[in-house]
Amino acid sequence: MKVNGIPYRSIWTTPEGRVQIIDQTRLPHEFVIVDLATMDQAAIAIRDMWVRGAPLIGATAAWGMALAMAEDASDAGLARAYDALMATRPTAVNLRWALEDVRARLAPLAPSARQDAASARAAAICDEDVEINRRIGEQGVALIEAIAARKSGPVNILTHCNAGWLATVDWGTATSPIYHAVERGIDVHVWVDETRPRNQGAHLTAWEMAGHGIPHHLIVDNAGGHLMQHGQVDMVIVGTDRTTARGDVCNKIGTYLKALAAHDNGVPFYVALPSPTIDWRVQDGVREIPIEERSGDEVSFVQGRDAAGQVGMVRISPDATPGANPAFDVTPARLVTGLITERGVAPATAAGLAAMFPDQAPL
Ligand code: MRU
Repeated sequence: MKVNGIPYRSIWTTPEGRVQIIDQTRLPHEFVIVDLATMDQAAIAIRDMWVRGAPLIGATAAWGMALAMAEDASDAGLARAYDALMATRPTAVNLRWALEDVRARLAPLAPSARQDAASARAAAICDEDVEINRRIGEQGVALIEAIAARKSGPVNILTHCNAGWLATVDWGTATSPIYHAVERGIDVHVWVDETRPRNQGAHLTAWEMAGHGIPHHLIVDNAGGHLMQHGQVDMVIVGTDRTTARGDVCNKIGTYLKALAAHDNGVPFYVALPSPTIDWRVQDGVREIPIEERSGDEVSFVQGRDAAGQVGMVRISPDATPGANPAFDVTPARLVTGLITERGVAPATAAGLAAMFPDQAPL
């Protein structure tokens, strides 16, 4: 997607082969490009959320494996890189998916062949992600179009966190149907949940929407239910960090409450996901998906820019009050209207997902 008229992906290589990312902790205040020169830097970038979002975590991990192979391409080096990158963040299954994919391709090769093979696969994972997300947009835009056809005024879409192009290599998952709708001239308006505690909605999704001139409003996380009760939300589209084989959806904390409110108000609740986000090994999302617990300081402190343009953190609670910070929650499949995948919109059921991906679902 374009930033000030210049096309960017969220991770890329320079003509000299340097891996670069956008430091997302600095947005929306500063647009800063950072080099990832070592596997350790790739791991830090994922852990400290310079990059985040399930597909981009997977893509960065794949590049991390390539950087590791430049440092030590032995079997021990391969195992060390896998373990170090795998330990960065526990919830998004794209991390495991990408690391297992790259490791399986490198393991049979001679160490001397591993660096080139890892770089080629990392680049291919990035290209595949772009194409998958483009197709998610093509599938999802039909849902927006159908709503636009039966109402006057904009289609009001509520989204949570950032499942935008910054969370993927390009297009985004939840935002891809929105970008496609805008390209087709459909009138859309986006309710952007601020998404406490790290405010990915306020910092990143709002930045994307503003950058593309898409009508939107930033709302507090608790406004969604009220807006739904008053007919001001036509549909919800969110992303996911891990969707189970039976269609339970793990996503940023607060997604579950949006799904409950949508269900109570008859508002369609869609989840957009690339197939690498499906964890075919788990069924019951509430019991089986590891939920990342992040520092309570992320709840107690908020980042912002003051009137003088200074970016900093401010404490919003008494010094003696500890924060608790579960970073994700699970929305049971029964609350999900449909899963927007690159192959089509699947019912959030075991049969629905298996029918859409017969080549991936375990027998
Ligand atoms: O903690 P984050 O910012 O990595 O969480 C991101 C989300 O929850 C996204 O909604 C999800 O990864 C889908 S991204 C296409």
